[in-house]
Amino acid sequence: MRKINALAGVAALAIMTAACSGGGSEPAEPAAEEPAAEAPAEEPAEEAPAAEPAADGDPMATTDGISYASLTGDAAAGKAVFAQCRTCHETKEGVNKTGPSLAGIVGRPAGSVDGFNYSPANANSGLTWTEEQLYVYLEDPQRTIPKTKMIFPGLPKAQDRANVIAYLKDPS
Ligand code: HEC
Repeated sequence: MRKINALAGVAALAIMTAACSGGGSEPAEPAAEEPAAEAPAEEPAEEAPAAEPAADGDPMATTDGISYASLTGDAAAGKAVFAQCRTCHETKEGVNKTGPSLAGIVGRPAGSVDGFNYSPANANSGLTWTEEQLYVYLEDPQRTIPKTKMIFPGLPKAQDRANVIAYLKDPS
């Protein structure tokens, strides 16, 4: 009988605690936590910060979370996507418009077209236009190169980016 009473008491306490934590401003950490808190408390606290920043700060992570490796680019479809770029870019060598020629863009360092007047942001970005880097950049150019003078909102669809990169590898 005593045991049942004790259990009932615990249950009642649990219900009260639940009721409190529903709307209350007090953190629902009652006295029960205290005895255990002394010795091992430090360990979890150290692990937590290490895990978190990776998600946000990685410049090679796309916002949509789709990896380039998971896609196969279609050059013909990419040529159609490139219509959006053609206002400002040509794929012929030496032809600069509002933007620099994109001939041989895949694999070359940023800011390396002779005779094109790059912004300092692009010229000094230190980036190399690998397929992966283009894939990330083209999602949101201003995120990869803040203050770029390329006024283009980006290609939100991952498959469009993969396709245009396939086209840029061998434009025709
Ligand atoms: C409204 C004009 C405009 C459009 C549209 C545009 N760009 Fe650009 N792009 C620019 C300009 C201007 C720069 C130079 C940026 C700087 O110097 O800050 C540039 C730079 C680039 C660069 C870096 C070149 C280098 O040599 O470092 C790449 C890559 C690029 N654009 C690809 C594209 C692709 C692919 C598209 C289409 C999906 C596109 N751009 C659409 C104007 C444009």
